[in-house]
Amino acid sequence: MRLWRRAFMLGTALLAQPALCAAPVFEGDPANKVAVDKVCTRCHKNGMFLSTPRSWIRWTDVFRTMSARGATGTDAELDRVVTFFLENLTIISVNASPDNELGPVLGASDAVVEAILRRREKQPFRNFDELAAFPGLDRATLERRRGRILF
Ligand code: HEC
Repeated sequence: MRLWRRAFMLGTALLAQPALCAAPVFEGDPANKVAVDKVCTRCHKNGMFLSTPRSWIRWTDVFRTMSARGATGTDAELDRVVTFFLENLTIISVNASPDNELGPVLGASDAVVEAILRRREKQPFRNFDELAAFPGLDRATLERRRGRILF
């Protein structure tokens, strides 16, 4: 039960889920991927989920289903699983997703996420270039994650 509860605590957003290809190289702390392989490959291969980015609400559904099937881990492992899925496999909507999704997907600090929230309230981001020009965001990171950033 723990895994999906933690995921839900991070918040959810209703989004469309276009089919996209996952980036072949995984980002973030390599220990996060190790935790995913430990928690999520006892019953099936990681190919079951590594090539299908989804919105966060869809992932929390998967976590809940897998928990019901018996997926478990320590709190530290589950935190790593959540971080891995956010950084690598989550699709966001720049003008609608909550801060806890924007931060990890955009690779943005809390201060930059705050600034994004303020900006989008006044004037929604219209396209990728507008976002990439926003102070504090790294264009190269955004380019790698471009397929998961919707407007
Ligand atoms: C206790 C066994 C078990 C563990 C551990 C487990 N799963 Fe599953 N998973 C299953 C079973 C059973 C299915 C259904 C198999 C099938 O459809 O062939 C499944 C199917 C899936 C699917 C396909 C269904 C869908 O909604 O698209 C995904 C994605 C998935 N698992 C992700 C995960 C993730 C992510 C983790 C780690 C958090 C995980 N699984 C851990 C048992 C498990």
